[in-house]
Amino acid sequence: MERVKTGIEGLDRILGGGLPKKSITLVSGPPGSGKSIFCFQFLYEGVKNGEKGLFLTLDKKVDGLLVQAREIGLDFQPAIEKKLVKFLYLNINKKYIYETMTNEILSGEYDRIVLDSITPLSEMPIFMRNTENTDIDISMVTPEEYPPGVNLPIRRLHLRYILNTLEAANSTSVVTSEIPVGSLLLSRDGISEFLADGVITLSLDPTMDRRKLSVMKMRNTKHTLKPQEIVIDHGGIKLF
Ligand SMILES: Nc1ncnc2c1ncn2[C@@H]1O[C@H](COP(=O)(O)OP(=O)(O)OP(=O)(O)O)[C@@H](O)[C@H]1O
Ligand SMILES: [Mg+2]
Repeated sequence: MERVKTGIEGLDRILGGGLPKKSITLVSGPPGSGKSIFCFQFLYEGVKNGEKGLFLTLDKKVDGLLVQAREIGLDFQPAIEKKLVKFLYLNINKKYIYETMTNEILSGEYDRIVLDSITPLSEMPIFMRNTENTDIDISMVTPEEYPPGVNLPIRRLHLRYILNTLEAANSTSVVTSEIPVGSLLLSRDGISEFLADGVITLSLDPTMDRRKLSVMKMRNTKHTLKPQEIVIDHGGIKLF
């Protein structure tokens, strides 16, 4: 099994070299747990090897992200200028967000793809164009247009669509999911963890002033389930 280094040394070690090539890994955790920093490190590791990377963001404008990455010592500007990395902000309120995202993902250009985070998408319902057959219109609708009874099975299809697109790309992907502090779910939607090949959780313990990273699932990989103590410092996340 070919492995793709995450750029987090200790993590690559416990994963037997890194993430399985072409897999999709969900990185979930509460606010401030290091999800975006994980994504920066993953793409930066690719840049070091001349691999192409795509950072899809739904939460934050690109400029802010680049500043955040530079602050921890990961400067993407040279890679962006060399067209090795592309940061793309997708506005959830715009129509054709799926089309833009799908075209970009399926362009076949990228070795590594990051989607930070899937939560806004997973909370955006889709509607059935025709309930007679299960044709799904995945174009954006405004909240007022949401049909009644948008429920879990429909949301599952929705997430499946996103993850299937990533799967169809020839890339190794990392998708983040925001979870409330103390939640027992592995993702906000409670579904993505089943669809992803791997799940890594990041957690915070403010009382003890400690952070942890756990590999909850990784297909084709023998790994420990034990939470690993981490620090976030210059350069990003490090395992103890
Ligand atoms: N230069 C730094 N040195 C040490 N720690 C830092 C540094 N920069 C950020 N951090 C820590 O990392 C946290 C932010 O991490 P990150 O943005 O990756 O979290 P996140 O899980 O993506 O959060 P959100 O859900 O809000 O997007 C900060 O709250 C801070 O604790
Ligand atoms: Mg973030």
